[in-house]
Amino acid sequence: MLLTLTNVLSREELAVVHDLLARGRFVDGKLSAGNEAVRIKHNQELSANDELMVPLNNLLMGRLINHPVYLAAALPLKIAAPYYAKYGKGMAYGNHVDDPVMGPVGQRYRSDLSITVFLNEPQDYEGGELTIQTSFGDQAVKLKAGDAVMYPSSSTHRVAEVTRGERVVAVTWLQSMVRDPARRELLYNLHQAREELLKNQPGTSATEQVSNSYVNLVRMWSET
Ligand code: NI
Repeated sequence: MLLTLTNVLSREELAVVHDLLARGRFVDGKLSAGNEAVRIKHNQELSANDELMVPLNNLLMGRLINHPVYLAAALPLKIAAPYYAKYGKGMAYGNHVDDPVMGPVGQRYRSDLSITVFLNEPQDYEGGELTIQTSFGDQAVKLKAGDAVMYPSSSTHRVAEVTRGERVVAVTWLQSMVRDPARRELLYNLHQAREELLKNQPGTSATEQVSNSYVNLVRMWSET
């Protein structure tokens, strides 16, 4: 399932992010790449030691973990601090799947879902599409500033070469309480039906049955 999270960051919050990033120290993205990725990863990332990481992460993760679509579709268990990446002219990231397990020893998590938050406007750069291979063909994603895309970390994806301007994104991952993507998708669909019923038909027995079934399925399928 490939989902758009709209308005993760407001215009004002984007301005704060850009102010912080302008003061940050960016390093070669190959430094955080595994053996496989070194060959194909060509971007720049905010240095992991940069003290600006704290205010940036507080803002971005604070907004993300309160986003209704993120919560309902991801059912997050463990969340990771984001990377902030810039792709200037000529930069790209070739086809890859994300590392299966991330985080330092003691704070390991399995990457079930990957998230890219677009931090500048699509008209600011040419190229730079995030292209995700799905069973329905390739999906090229380029969203407006402040929106994000969430997709399975196991899917093959790439970032097309930027041919003009600069692409600025934040990327993060999470481990879901529900490991199986098919179950997660069913739960998300049922969640949407439940929300609608709770709003439009509160108190009916059908609403109660759908609502309770959703809750009990989450209980049945969650691992914590
Ligand atoms: Ni990736």
